[in-house]
Amino acid sequence: AEPLRVALLGCGVVGTEVAQRLTTHAEAYAERIGARLELTGIAVRDTDRTRAGIDPALITDDAEGLVGRADIVVELMGGIEPARSLILKAISHGASVVTANKALLAEHGADLLAAAVQAGVRLEYEAAVAGAIPIVRPVGESLAGDKVQRILGIVNGTTNYVLDKMDSEGWEFDDAVKKAQELGYAEADPTADVGGHDAAAKAAILANLAFHTPVSLSDVYVEGITAVTAADVARAKAEGYAVKLLAICERLEQADGSDGVSARVYPALVPHEHPLASVHGAFNAVFVESEAAGELMFYGQGAGGAPTSSAVLGDIISVARRRVLGGRGQSEPSNGALPLLPIDQIRTRYH
Ligand code: NDP
Ligand code: HSE
Repeated sequence: AEPLRVALLGCGVVGTEVAQRLTTHAEAYAERIGARLELTGIAVRDTDRTRAGIDPALITDDAEGLVGRADIVVELMGGIEPARSLILKAISHGASVVTANKALLAEHGADLLAAAVQAGVRLEYEAAVAGAIPIVRPVGESLAGDKVQRILGIVNGTTNYVLDKMDSEGWEFDDAVKKAQELGYAEADPTADVGGHDAAAKAAILANLAFHTPVSLSDVYVEGITAVTAADVARAKAEGYAVKLLAICERLEQADGSDGVSARVYPALVPHEHPLASVHGAFNAVFVESEAAGELMFYGQGAGGAPTSSAVLGDIISVARRRVLGGRGQSEPSNGALPLLPIDQIRTRYH
């Protein structure tokens, strides 16, 4: 099939990892998709900055021009504008879109998805919730036939890192936030993390998917961790608790007996014996309780360039396959690229 033109908007913590993997894994991706992905350009603000591992010829400040010539647009700039307008432009040109922008989705997701449906293109956002953890597709698609009762999770890596460092190493709040920024976990403006708004955006996205109900950022009760001190964390620890910023999305019975939805984010005391108390660093964990499946647990790296790139690249390959396969929808059977090892050559690690 013809190569698919990919426009990347943003070359920061996540965009850089995505751009590098699109190049280094180009052959493998072409085999998985049935067509090559051609990275046509990367839009940034500052075109003068040297960017390690990125071909300078790809860098541009003409995001609009790039979008107009793409089959797949990957939005990794963050913020509401110009990200929103660029995504709408991509959709109106018939491009499929992949984004990690939870702030945008939590405010304008319904409009963007409606535009994509109308144009007959895909808008995928697996990376927008809990970094590397596959959670958007499991909740939105795999559990679509079940009745989700509750989602409970640690969905912000920065705040988990900060609270964990205060707990395990006695760090001060500000030092831990600074380190989280250096490690690429925090948003461009970390007040979205520590104020709980990033977790609230993710809670809104999950609640939409789980309860098939429009929930936006303003519907989520939010309390961040800015008032949590090192002394609070130490006192909680002495009493057998870890302080964790939890996102809770719940189906609750109302006074008239019908179901309603509640979504909230706040710092909670989690007993040390609870699995969520063992989620350290920038890791995230999400528990889902549903009628037929019962309890499900998802765990992994919730922030950072490489982990997040995994989810973005998965979405890129997914939308690319759909474009190549058209109405057929089903991916090709695997083509045997790796040899299957005979059992006597396998060193068993788990006895
Ligand atoms: P960064 O701030 O590291 O990178 C943003 C990139 O976008 C930069 O290259 C910047 O250009 C470019 N950019 C910003 N505004 C514009 C604009 N108006 N025009 C052109 N280019 C622009 O962000 P991240 O990579 O950390 O995050 C990207 C997205 O992914 C955000 O939506 C974030 O919420 C989301 N996300 C991030 C995760 C993480 O762990 N970091 C995890 C999951 C999701 P320049 O380089 O010139 O400044
Ligand atoms: N700033 C976010 C976090 C990035 O710390 O979880 C991942 O969405």
